[in-house]
Amino acid sequence: MSQRAPESFVRATVRPLAAYGPPRDPAAVGLHLNESPHDLPDELKRELSARIRASDWSKYPITDGARLAADLAQLYRHDPAGALVGNGSNELLQLLLFACLEPGDTVVVASPSFALYSLQASALGARVVEVSLRGEDGRFRFFVPELAAQAQKAKLILIGSPNNPTGTTLSLDQVALLCEAAPCLVGIDEAYRDFCGQDFAPLLRDHPRLVLFRTFSKAMAAAALRCGCLLGAPSLCAELRKVQLPYNLSAVTSLVAGELIKRPELIAERTRLVARERERMAAALRELHFTVHESGANFILFEQSRKPAAELHAALFRRGVLIRNVSNAKSLEHALRVSIGAPEKNDAFLAALRAEVAP
Ligand SMILES: Cc1ncc(COP(=O)(O)O)c(C=O)c1O
Repeated sequence: MSQRAPESFVRATVRPLAAYGPPRDPAAVGLHLNESPHDLPDELKRELSARIRASDWSKYPITDGARLAADLAQLYRHDPAGALVGNGSNELLQLLLFACLEPGDTVVVASPSFALYSLQASALGARVVEVSLRGEDGRFRFFVPELAAQAQKAKLILIGSPNNPTGTTLSLDQVALLCEAAPCLVGIDEAYRDFCGQDFAPLLRDHPRLVLFRTFSKAMAAAALRCGCLLGAPSLCAELRKVQLPYNLSAVTSLVAGELIKRPELIAERTRLVARERERMAAALRELHFTVHESGANFILFEQSRKPAAELHAALFRRGVLIRNVSNAKSLEHALRVSIGAPEKNDAFLAALRAEVAP
């Protein structure tokens, strides 16, 4: 009998990868996952729970996902044939990569950016080319000509705006320029767009290679639901539908997401709070002599070189505050990322930080 180990059957491109997964260590103050500071209103949860209870759980949700996709397309003024929904935007990102990438294809990403982009592309055997966001002044910005130059022989350029973990944003003009200059697919992950009022959907009409990813996990305060949306050319979405799993979105998620988009006031209130707290946190961090990077998202990247970032991260954790240590990423040796939480959590983070770094 063969002694071959089961894991040896896994793709050679997957074996060397490290699993993605931020730790969910128990911490009194968790500011490491860029989640919404507040849950959805209890009254709304109760109303939706009653509707979920009244529905028939024994049947497949045959039309639910398509209906939600159509509602989202209407909301974003896009062709319903060009909208797909999935279990979080990450699933749709994986779908696009799975459907489009062949081993040896090139994918261009910004560096630093969300680790999942290169992880998933590498798993499919793609070559990942990174374009640095760091300028000579130490600040982060998108160098569109460089991105476009690298994209000439690529199949896909994949960028987050606002970018995780830097918070850097692209302008509408920059995206249009990129779409014109790059001959490949241009994927923009707009997970954090509500925190800076960004909306690239109007570009979809004139730029058929543009693909947008949106999520209910951030400003919509529904990370537990796992719901995301892809907007792109109807002809591209028709191909993606061929390999999307049937009934991928649960009836529960479809129902709740469909109700959430009818209540834009919930988002407006939350994003206002985040923007206010982001300003306050940035000012407090500057006062503590950190370099604070401009952010259009619900998190802030900050740097210092007085203490190793990993040490400061561990010290904060001992004080019950968990933020994200991003210092093992290229060009982020001194950086940490903190999510903007509820005011009292932000205060707890600042108090713990002051206790660690104030003279
Ligand atoms: C850049 C980026 N995209 C997307 C997501 C959210 O993905 P999902 O919609 O699967 O929850 C995150 C969450 O942290 C993120 O940082």
